[in-house]
Amino acid sequence: MNKKFTVNNFKEYKESGKKISMLTAYDYPTAKILDESGIETILVGDSLGMVVLGYEDTTKVTMEDMIHHTKAVARGAKHAMIIADMPFMSYHTGKYEGVRNAGRLISEGGCSAVKIEGGQEITEIIRAIINAGIPVMGHIGYTPQSVNLFGGHKAQGKTMDTAKKIYMDAIKLQEAGVFSIVLECVPYKLAQFITERLDIPTIGIGSGSACDGQVLVLQDMIGLFRDFTPRHVKKYADMGSLMESSAKSYLDEVHKGVFPTEKNSFKIDEEIIECLKEINVWLTQIDRSFYYESYWKNCRN
Ligand code: KIV
Repeated sequence: MNKKFTVNNFKEYKESGKKISMLTAYDYPTAKILDESGIETILVGDSLGMVVLGYEDTTKVTMEDMIHHTKAVARGAKHAMIIADMPFMSYHTGKYEGVRNAGRLISEGGCSAVKIEGGQEITEIIRAIINAGIPVMGHIGYTPQSVNLFGGHKAQGKTMDTAKKIYMDAIKLQEAGVFSIVLECVPYKLAQFITERLDIPTIGIGSGSACDGQVLVLQDMIGLFRDFTPRHVKKYADMGSLMESSAKSYLDEVHKGVFPTEKNSFKIDEEIIECLKEINVWLTQIDRSFYYESYWKNCRN
């Protein structure tokens, strides 16, 4: 991909039936690798809190955390569209805070859009952010910031009431102007039903293949986060094991003195070392004379 992926491409992909790929990233080298792989969109997700910062859930992630990591990703990704998560309590208190914080992610972080968890109850805030010129991606179904309300990580929309609510949320978010909606952990037939009825693309995570695109948390899909693996994740690599075995080999070689070799070290002219040896002899003599002098001085006092 040569040109930067934008909200217009989201629309084009939906119209042409081409699927959108999205992965999370939280740092410069990862963003650069994903960008070079051709991934269309990078999400600086607040999953950062769990898979990078080691919190139990995403509710501890701050605006400062999100800006810090979005900046790093923006330095690495030149073509992929960067979308940053609005963290817990960064928009719930009202339109003013919501617009201000979304604006900070764009102007300080360097992303092109923000993602917000929530349905019908936050459409006013979403409208205000869009009116400020900031594209918004919705996120419904299982919304990790509400983990305490759900009583744990659970698929959503399996009952008549919750399925209806999720469908209505999708409709209301589209009406509010979001350019896309993440559907997290909803039954695949419900995701398909919603996807077929929306003009904007749905991005699924744990919601089946009928969605217009897919997103995964990178640390899950390459095996870097090993505390647990959610059911919806497919592991494409086991980087965790690779990292562990590399660290073990390094530890072994350091202990045995096998690393570093001459190849990993820098050379100096033997002449300079000989010269240093002479200087050392000279320095030792000065030190000695200094030592004797102060010794005699002390004795005399
Ligand atoms: O924070 C995140 O990574 C997300 C994805 C799970 C969609 O919101």
